[in-house]
Amino acid sequence: MTRSSLSIVAGYALGNLITEGKTKKVYEILQSPDEVLIISKDRITAGDGTKAHVLEGKAAISTQTTSKVFEILNSVGIKTSFIKVVNETAFIARKCEMVPIEWVTRRLATGSFLRRYPGVPEGYKFNPPLQETFFKDDANHDPQWAQEQIISAGFNLNGVTIAKDEVDIMRRCTLLVFEVLEKAWASQDCCLVDMKIEFGIDSKGEILVSDVIDSDSWRLWPSGDKKLMKDKQVYRNLSNVTLSDLDTVKRNFKWVAEQLESLTPPTTGLVVILMGSPSDEEHCRKIEKECHKLNVPSQLRVTSAHKGTEDTLNILAEYEGLGCTTVIHPSAAAIAAAQILALSDHLIWSRLRTLAFNNYVSLKRADKIIRTTPMQ
Ligand SMILES: Nc1ncnc2c1ncn2[C@@H]1O[C@H](COP(=O)(O)OP(=O)(O)O)[C@@H](O)[C@H]1O
Ligand SMILES: [Mg+2]
Repeated sequence: MTRSSLSIVAGYALGNLITEGKTKKVYEILQSPDEVLIISKDRITAGDGTKAHVLEGKAAISTQTTSKVFEILNSVGIKTSFIKVVNETAFIARKCEMVPIEWVTRRLATGSFLRRYPGVPEGYKFNPPLQETFFKDDANHDPQWAQEQIISAGFNLNGVTIAKDEVDIMRRCTLLVFEVLEKAWASQDCCLVDMKIEFGIDSKGEILVSDVIDSDSWRLWPSGDKKLMKDKQVYRNLSNVTLSDLDTVKRNFKWVAEQLESLTPPTTGLVVILMGSPSDEEHCRKIEKECHKLNVPSQLRVTSAHKGTEDTLNILAEYEGLGCTTVIHPSAAAIAAAQILALSDHLIWSRLRTLAFNNYVSLKRADKIIRTTPMQ
């Protein structure tokens, strides 16, 4: 570790430079030992770093992209290390010990997959998406690893041994992240072809989606058309890199960041909770609370179909076009309503998916504790 020459960045007193990679530097923050400052570099690389150029403005575009993507993931309830952006080229994250694996998800076959599996045509669609893992090892060109190799490596990070449970959680989480972002990009008529993410373990032993997710992390084809690609592949494909080529790459990255800014769709749906009388309020407030947890807008109304049928029908007419469903438990009511809205709102869809995933993680944890607790 080297003592940083920078001491204060965006009001944060920096400690040691923990690590420096191809595209960013990671610093300790003196006031917050569980957090780090991640500073992006104006540098673009490909081929495990064999090809590299200075690309002025890239650090800012990358920070903007990563921040927006992680804000989406955080907002739907996925656990990530991202905390907040602090200036144009830096953000704060939970300090992690990183799992040295690249978790790749593919919807369409392209790139290295075609070289590894001759005969598969470009654009072959994987349903469900294909998942692959690569050991982060530039010197050996990031070899593909089977899950047995990851488990056998016995990584121990912040006290957590990466065993089968942890690999299962990371694999499912990788798919969740892909599907959430695929839906988000589909709303902009963009095909998320494939992407890679990394995980870290924080000081509490939590598995978090970590590192960055930016134009270096995925292939994006507007309207599903490879010729319109907006990702780093444009740079990878260049044999002789001119200033004008670099400018094209930068404009593409900028376009991606801007598209992300306009991603969130307006939530148009509304869950109307009709109460027969004010005495139903306590029960109906529970439904309202469950809706709120899913970020689904809701509204309570008092109307009795028995005592004032016409009035109830008038209220229904106000909300015409919304489906109706009969359920008993408050959380089931909220989830049923959210499922209807999820058909047209990808963020609600993502929250429901994340809820199911987080339940899966809780069960895995409980199972591990039961398994490893000796008989009293
Ligand atoms: N939240 C975090 N806590 C600690 N280290 C991190 C965090 N996020 C990313 N890193 C690490 O920062 C290092 C620098 O990133 P990068 O420049 O992309 O390196 P590389 O060239 O190894 O991919 C990587 O080793 C990455 O794993
Ligand atoms: Mg990296």
